[in-house]
Amino acid sequence: MFATMGALGLAPTAQAANREPVFHAPRASDFHLSGGKGAAKVVIVGGGIAGLAAAYELGKAGYDCTVLEARDRTGGRNFTVRGGDSTTDLYGNHQTARFSEGQYMNAGPARLPQWMVTLDYCRELGVPLEVFTNTNADAYLYNESAGMKGPMRYRTAKADMYGYVSELLAKATDKGALDRQLNAADQERLVEFLKDFGALGDKLDYTGGERRGFTTVPAAAGTPGVELGNVPSASEILSTGVGRYFSFEFGYDQAMLMFQPVGGMDQIPKALTRAIGAHKIRTGAAVTRITDKAQGVSVTYTQGGRTRQIEADYCIGALPPNILAKIPHNLGAGVQTALEAIKPQSAGKIGLEYASRWWELDHRIYGGITETDLDVTHIWHPSYGFHGERGVMIGYYNYDTDADSYAKLSPADREKRAVAAGVKIYGPKYRTELASSFSHHWRQTPHLEAAWHDTVGGPDAPVYKPLNEGTGRVYFAGDWLSYTDAWQHGAFTSARKAVTALHARVLA
Ligand code: ALA
Repeated sequence: MFATMGALGLAPTAQAANREPVFHAPRASDFHLSGGKGAAKVVIVGGGIAGLAAAYELGKAGYDCTVLEARDRTGGRNFTVRGGDSTTDLYGNHQTARFSEGQYMNAGPARLPQWMVTLDYCRELGVPLEVFTNTNADAYLYNESAGMKGPMRYRTAKADMYGYVSELLAKATDKGALDRQLNAADQERLVEFLKDFGALGDKLDYTGGERRGFTTVPAAAGTPGVELGNVPSASEILSTGVGRYFSFEFGYDQAMLMFQPVGGMDQIPKALTRAIGAHKIRTGAAVTRITDKAQGVSVTYTQGGRTRQIEADYCIGALPPNILAKIPHNLGAGVQTALEAIKPQSAGKIGLEYASRWWELDHRIYGGITETDLDVTHIWHPSYGFHGERGVMIGYYNYDTDADSYAKLSPADREKRAVAAGVKIYGPKYRTELASSFSHHWRQTPHLEAAWHDTVGGPDAPVYKPLNEGTGRVYFAGDWLSYTDAWQHGAFTSARKAVTALHARVLA
């Protein structure tokens, strides 16, 4: 009966848990069933998550896939930086990370929501996960422009904002301001909720309380704890502007719990690369031309200073659109217009390795994000290596003009500016404990030149039809052709869509 109810949509089912449309990976047996020709040869341009996912899924049915990747490693924007890793940006800044053994930063994707298919791939590929702390009651909020004298803990800011908002609404309800909206019983229920939500007293006043935090924490008999003093007025807490950070945790893509692969986000492309077979992936192979012919596709690329060509039945364009747009092709004006309509966006991060985990020892902050109105924007505490000797903080994760202004600096000056900002929040250890840093800016990264993209009008706007449906023998895939741009989920689901269309055509 339960199953029947589920089928009728009357009971919770696995399908009801907001899964993407069911994906059937191509299987070798599909060809026997259809009586068709068999698996085709496919050249995949771009070894980021979309390209790797396409090769991986097509490989399940025996497609002969070759992945061309311009950089010396797969993963695209999925990039984990460890000691010894080097980069040169488009301004010519050369960096080699000096992080110690076991320390890393995820320069690109760094957090995974539970509902995204990325988790399904982690399970299928055997990539172990651990919790990523996206919000932490003990992390800080700091709005310098609002005149805050120092940082405030999330929990304190929330207690005060929720407290006063609850007080105001409860009192307004009590005075009859909601008589037209709510009947008497509902008003009573609302006030009950607000008393609990805002920690209000019997007179509906907010006067602080333990959820704000303690200066001396409760302990053994004789130590009841000393609550934080100096409860601000409603006007004072409103003037700090801290309330604007609270909605972040409601986001469908940002709500806890979130996850990260153990040992770095690049465990995902590494596992995909192993599953595909490294011999099917050519790194250092920059594509210079894509030619659609009636019977196949020809892709020209340079590798080790030599020009080479590969012939295939089909091609999947899985490069960022801003890079694809620069590659000569004969796919027509519609494809070019669509690629150029998608706008590359900036973001940057700096990893700061510290010789001690002072944020855990002195501040009692284990993971999570400090939010600021400074140009560093977000400061991340690591969600791995708790209680270890050292740790890598993300000293900035910023976007747009903030990211570009840091990108223009030398790596040493980026570090200097980021540390000066952090000292305002955390004090001198932010500088004195620093061991080394590594900064990464996606708009200035060769072969990618974007952190993510603005697919203007949304991915289903008519202009993107030649990309969504494929043109000639070329299909396209990438997070930028999805509703979850800047998430690996977008790359995976877009790759699945291209694979499904290509496989259906081959079977037909
Ligand atoms: N998906 C990216 C993030 O979570 C933008 O920061």
